[in-house]
Amino acid sequence: MNSEIREVLVDEKTLAKTVSELAERINADYAGKSVLLLVILKGSMIFSADLVRKLNMKVSIDFMQVSSYRSSTVAGELKILKDVQTSLEGKNVIIAEDIIDSGKTLKALTELLKKRGANVEVCALLSKPDRREVDIDVKYQGLEIPDEFVVGYGLDYDERYRNLPYIGILKKEVYS
Ligand code: IMP
Ligand code: MG
Repeated sequence: MNSEIREVLVDEKTLAKTVSELAERINADYAGKSVLLLVILKGSMIFSADLVRKLNMKVSIDFMQVSSYRSSTVAGELKILKDVQTSLEGKNVIIAEDIIDSGKTLKALTELLKKRGANVEVCALLSKPDRREVDIDVKYQGLEIPDEFVVGYGLDYDERYRNLPYIGILKKEVYS
């Protein structure tokens, strides 16, 4: 284990099982349909790469990058750093998100995509329910975790630790 990690919260086996279960549900709901998997950069890239390989409908992939953690984002306001390359009108869009914290990012993003004419659902690997500030409908939810700062499997602290194959709790002394 990485010496800056206090505890492994979700190990590789559990991650794989969680992703498989999410994919199974999406496969059942979208059988015979087309899906655009919208990967929210950068945190959900590893999750999305695993998820998309388990999807079996017609699927395309696009990417967005939106305002980052602890920014001044308020619900309804969204800073878009990178936008999709295709029209979303009439498309079945599944947003792949790494983790839902306050829920503000996802709420604003969902509203924007609906305005663009997409049928939007959310697939999130992790959620911290204790931190929720706004109501959002997450159809495909992986694991609920306690209010701890976690890294790995795509999630970062200051752009580091994305490469860890598990989800770990970062030692407090690392960010103080
Ligand atoms: P929200 O808008 O408050 O829900 O923020 C969600 C975003 O914050 C996620 O997409 C992550 O990028 C980031 N985030 C929230 N919690 C964590 C964490 O524990 N570790 C790393 N990034 C996090
Ligand atoms: Mg993120």
